[in-house]
Amino acid sequence: MIKMAYFSGTGNTEYVSKLLKEKLDSMGKKVEITKITLKNYDYSIDDCELFILIYPIHSFDVPWPVYKWLKNIKINSVKTAILSVSAGGYIPTNSGSRIKLKKFFNKKDCEIFYEDDIQMPLNCIKPMEEKEIYQILEKLPNKIEEVANNIVNNVPKSTNVHFKGLMLSKVSTFQNFFAKIFAKGYVVNDKCNLCQLCINNCPTNNIFLKDNKIKFGMNCSLCLNCIYNCPQNAIEQKKFSFMVLKDGYNLKKYINDKV
Ligand SMILES: Cc1cc2nc3c(=O)[nH]c(=O)nc-3n(C[C@H](O)[C@H](O)[C@H](O)COP(=O)(O)O)c2cc1C
Ligand code: SF4
Ligand code: SF4
Repeated sequence: MIKMAYFSGTGNTEYVSKLLKEKLDSMGKKVEITKITLKNYDYSIDDCELFILIYPIHSFDVPWPVYKWLKNIKINSVKTAILSVSAGGYIPTNSGSRIKLKKFFNKKDCEIFYEDDIQMPLNCIKPMEEKEIYQILEKLPNKIEEVANNIVNNVPKSTNVHFKGLMLSKVSTFQNFFAKIFAKGYVVNDKCNLCQLCINNCPTNNIFLKDNKIKFGMNCSLCLNCIYNCPQNAIEQKKFSFMVLKDGYNLKKYINDKV
């Protein structure tokens, strides 16, 4: 059996993971899929033929909750594939994102036999042109097929680290600090009807109800799930608005437009 675990803020990595699972299932592999959140560490990855970790690149690195989850679950000596899902793909700055992860898995006596990056649309800072988004989504089925074939046929792949990637991978302490305080810039306006969707979906338990109001803690991962998915559009980012797409990010819209 293959075990697959993914972290996803705005749905890109979730979509990629589900497509890859479907493809591997259709090739006769049994895949058990898990969403990474800090709500449950009851998970073991020492009893499968392969473990596939899939995560979005956040500021040239792996989002901090992924490391925290990995450190708290049972993991030992398993064949591993690591797949990043980024907006830039194989650009030099992204190349350092797997350095720490590889060290972590090596310490756990896990052989990383496959590394890859799957490009998806950008979900922050500056909107991509729609044309570019559709081009990326058109290429996705072929990329999924390539990855699935390599995994099933045991074809190894490793990626090179560019100097820029190496340098940027060193500044992750600052990135993590910024991510953690990011939600302190959120303000919830009067449109909020206390549906609690944001509380239930926050992967780091960083949203809670206090005095009948939605509040944010200091444990944000900057995943952007809450602000883009609030049904009432009630969450605004007041301090760090440069990170947020003004019109939000809705992958489902682009996928549905395609079919
Ligand atoms: C805080 C943050 C930082 C990001 N940094 C990078 C980056 O360094 N390189 C890159 O190519 N994409 C970057 N992205 C874009 C995401 O990696 C990309 O859109 C990804 O597919 C989002 O996946 P998700 O929808 O599963 O969260 C960043 C996104 C966020 C929210
Ligand atoms: S998802 Fe939006 S409307 Fe629902 S509780 Fe959160 S902020 Fe309020
Ligand atoms: S507070 Fe919002 S942006 Fe931060 S981790 Fe939770 S859902 Fe993601």
